[in-house]
Order: sequence, then C-alpha cells, then structure tokens
Amino acid sequence: MAHHSSTHKWPTADFTRVPYRVFYDADIYRSEADRLFRGPHWNYLCTETEISNPGDYVISYVGETQVVVNRTEDLTIMAFINSCAHRGAQLVRRLRGNTLSHTCAYHQWCYDTKGALLGVPQQRGVKGKGGMPADFDKAKHSLKTLRVETYKGLVFGTFSVATPPLHDYLGPKIREQIDRIFDRPLKLLGYYRQRIPANWKLYLENVKDPYHAGLLHLFHVTFGIYRPTMSGRVFMDETQGHSVLRTADIGEQQADVNTAYAGIDKYRPDYKLQDPSLFDVKPDYPDKVTNMILTIFPNVMLGQVANTFQIRHVRPKGLREFELFWTYFGFADDDNAAVEGKLRQSNFIGPAGYISLEDGEAGRLVQIGVEHREPSDMSVIEMGGRGPIADIDTLSTEVALRGFWKHYAQSMGFAPTGAD
Ligand code: FES
Ligand SMILES: [Fe+2]
Repeated sequence: MAHHSSTHKWPTADFTRVPYRVFYDADIYRSEADRLFRGPHWNYLCTETEISNPGDYVISYVGETQVVVNRTEDLTIMAFINSCAHRGAQLVRRLRGNTLSHTCAYHQWCYDTKGALLGVPQQRGVKGKGGMPADFDKAKHSLKTLRVETYKGLVFGTFSVATPPLHDYLGPKIREQIDRIFDRPLKLLGYYRQRIPANWKLYLENVKDPYHAGLLHLFHVTFGIYRPTMSGRVFMDETQGHSVLRTADIGEQQADVNTAYAGIDKYRPDYKLQDPSLFDVKPDYPDKVTNMILTIFPNVMLGQVANTFQIRHVRPKGLREFELFWTYFGFADDDNAAVEGKLRQSNFIGPAGYISLEDGEAGRLVQIGVEHREPSDMSVIEMGGRGPIADIDTLSTEVALRGFWKHYAQSMGFAPTGAD
C-alpha cells in the first residue's frame, strides 16, 4: 500500500503546528479511509435506545461507508455494510425502520438481521434451466459485518481485529464522563442533519477548542452559558486523541468578566431575552456544569450545553464536506416540563442554533482560507503553551487540538519530526 508517510512528516514534535494540507490533500483523505476508519479505532454508530426492539435498524456511517445497525431477534446488535452480497447494490434504503429481513431491490436476495443470506430467487433456475450452480452455498454469501461493542448505551463498530476492547479504548477518564451523563436511560428527542462545506477534521478542531467559544459565540457569552472566566478544565485520555472540555458556573467574578471582554463586543450585558423561559429549565445534574464537550477519536462528540444533550457524529462526505448528524436526547424519567424545557433549549444547537450556527460557519471559513496556501504553510496552535501536551485547568487553551493531532499523526503513520 502506498502511503504518504514515506514522504510526509509532521512539522513539529509538540504538535503546535498543523500542515494545512491535511484539510485539502486527496491522498491524505484516502489514507484516512484505510488507517482511521478501517483501522484499529472504534467508530460511533448509534445509541441502543434507537434500536430497542427486535428488527429495529438505523443506517449509520463508518467514514463514508454506509453501515446498517440491527437489533436481532435474540436482542444482540449486529452491523453490516449496506451493500448486497450479490452485485453490491445498496440494500437498505430507509434511514431507520423495523424489519426482520432485508430484501435487495435489484434481484430480491434476502437477508436476516445478522446479515445471513436467506433466499436467492430462481436459485434452482426456471423450468429446469439456468439458476445458480448446484454447489452454491448461501452460508458463504453473508453480508460483510463489523465488530460491534457498546458502552452505556452507545454503539460502536470497527472493521479491524486489532482494535482493543471499547472499554480500554475509551479509558477511565473518558468513561467517567460518559458515566456521568448516561447514569439513567435515555429518551430520544430527535435529530438534526446539516452539511458543512469543510473538511471533517475542522469540526473536531472546533469542538476541542475552548478558546473560540468565548469569542465567536455572542449568545454563549452574553447569557452566561460559557465564559473563559468560569471554572474550566480541559483533559484527555492516555492517547490524547479523546478529550473533554468542561465549564462550571462556579466562582466567576464580574470584575474578571469585564476585564476579559474589555473592547470585545461579544459580551453584551445590555442584551436581554424577550422570552426568558429559555433558561427556565431545571438542571439535570447538581454539579453546575454548563458545558461538557467530550470527543471520542476519530469522529464523534458527546455534548451537554446547558440542559441540551446531544451526540454529534461527524460524517465525512468527501475531502471538503461533511454531514453533521445530531442525535438529540433527554432522559426516560423526564416529565413533560423537562422535555418541553429541553426542546426549547434545543434552539441553542443544530444547524441554526443560537450557538452552533457559528461553528458551521467557522469550518467553512477555514476551508476557504487554507485551500490555496503554500504546501508548507501551517496553523499556529500555541494558546495554553508549547512543549508537553498536558491536561490544564483553564479554558484559555488549545491543548486538546494538539492531543488530537498527535494521535492523528501516529494513527496515520506520519513520520515523527526529524526522521525520514
Ligand atoms: S445486487 Fe442485490 S440482489 Fe442483485
Ligand atoms: Fe463553538
């Protein structure tokens, strides 16, 4: 396999630089399909809540590959590539549904929820002629399945036998944060889907970046969901490819806010909401956390913004575009008022969210900006310091991006700086 790694090395050992070509180089994009999405990594697929009953299924993606995730009759979860074992047609054509067998539209080959081939029309021919060879064995023509594991109701798949168990892949620091949110059964509230004209990794950079959050987002800042003057922490797992940003509304001093935003128009204390019921929502947890943004390498984010809870799946659609697929949830024991409150607050997020709208635009701006830079040009990621990549108790940092790029470079086989 020819890889870019023989010719490309990362420009700095501490990942304070990121070559812009990772956002527009087609060879790198092709290599990601092999090394990340087909490599030893767990890919988020869906939640168990979405496929609770036998026969429930959803279409999801591993990289650009469509995958069907099924709840089988014996209540296990099976995932297979959405491509017929006959001549490769897309098998399942609805985003989600319930069926105990999947029939291909093209020649009606039929499969069970585990991907086993059940029936081939005209297998014995017609009027004694034609048909499949006598030794054709349906057992040898199942759909291509993936390994599947779950953690706290989150379903992941991998194509690689080398991927470690999901529990270990997440690591203790990430599991602890998942445990905090998934301490009770979920209630699915809905989905958002949007297309963003940017390389998929620009969204990962965005959600790992607390620096922008207090500067790009007026709503965040003005209405006190997120300010760098709040108590905040950025931390990573052992690989540093996963990360957590947390802000809590604790100990913020008005004088510090005034200093931080002197001369910056993103903090507008004179702004008031016409409808204050947007914030009249009972907190789900007593810990005063206003934001919790958890990313799992390579491409999923689990988030809390005030009382909204979402999974954001970053689905690449070519080098310069991705679909951002939002699964928006509450909790099974939420009463009507809690659900109403969460639905009101869903206006914070999604394609036109008071906060999230700006993040889609940020990715677009970077893609436009870097597209025609010199091949050796790179970004500058020094907020929070150079050198060792370490957890930090501030929001004035970009260190989680450096952790992501370190793990990315290792996974992609970029040669370390100084090597050849
Ligand atoms: S391609 Fe599916 S049955 Fe022929
Ligand atoms: Fe943002």
